[in-house]
Amino acid sequence: MSSERVVVVADPIDREALGRLKAGPCVVVDASADPTKLSGQLANAWGLIVRSRTKVTADLLAHAPHLEIVARAGVGVDNVDLAATTKRGIRVVNAPAAATQSVAELTVAFYLMLVRGLSPSIASMRAGKWERGTHGRELAGKTVGFVGYGRIAREVARRLEPFHAQTVAFDPYVPSSGDATVMMTLEDLLSRADIVSLHAASTAENRHLIDARAFERIKPGAFLVNVARGALVDEAALLSALASGRLAGAALDVYEVEPPMNQALLTHPNVIPTPHLGASTHEAQARAGTDTVDEVLRALKGEPLTALVPAGGA
Ligand code: MLT
Repeated sequence: MSSERVVVVADPIDREALGRLKAGPCVVVDASADPTKLSGQLANAWGLIVRSRTKVTADLLAHAPHLEIVARAGVGVDNVDLAATTKRGIRVVNAPAAATQSVAELTVAFYLMLVRGLSPSIASMRAGKWERGTHGRELAGKTVGFVGYGRIAREVARRLEPFHAQTVAFDPYVPSSGDATVMMTLEDLLSRADIVSLHAASTAENRHLIDARAFERIKPGAFLVNVARGALVDEAALLSALASGRLAGAALDVYEVEPPMNQALLTHPNVIPTPHLGASTHEAQARAGTDTVDEVLRALKGEPLTALVPAGGA
């Protein structure tokens, strides 16, 4: 039997990146075709590569007694039980920059679709109508409020400059933006922003950050965009805010439960729903695969890691 370390690839990753891994100093087990068989393939695993489909729970880790590294081919690590990996001394790495441009571009596309009311116009054309009355607004002069001002929100802010939109942000970890974006409290942001744009990681503390109280504070006629994590928004409160007209519309790429089952939300005329595809472009997936494989190769060679996720849990 080979003494080389075993890396199990649990979710599909970029084909070229997988090829690079296979050429590295390890034995690669591609377990991505059938998630039901994954736990049975972990007995000799030294490394585990996942996207978001695989939930790296304490139970799954129990099947991998020799595991030393979990590599997440993406940004969010909310599908990895960091308390469990920390307890076992398993390192976790991710690909924090891979999807930045793709998610930023999707976000700007959502803003434009929402303010111009494109979704109802497309639906009306599909219904055989020809409605050319005064419709929609310009993005110029509007205020976009970022909840979470990390890598992606900053890229969105840069892309908004030529649109002449103003930007404000709330982020408890960012005292000063270092750019033209004005930092403020969440309450102030909600009352000022024409578009509330969510870009925070999902944590136990910020679950339902945008709840009924937040919708009461939101500027009447504002839009909500969520390209971050579904847990940030109380979907029942979101539906009420849409029903009352307080919120003019929402664009959602993420949901409290995925795949989502909230038909009232998905079919609402003022909601633009997409299936968590912010990072799913060919470019972002190629980058995520390459960045992740490079990090695993560094770990195999005992080189310093560049995208180590801080240890978590109690
Ligand atoms: C991410 O965190 O990288 C994105 O949400 C996409 C994904 O989960 O694959």
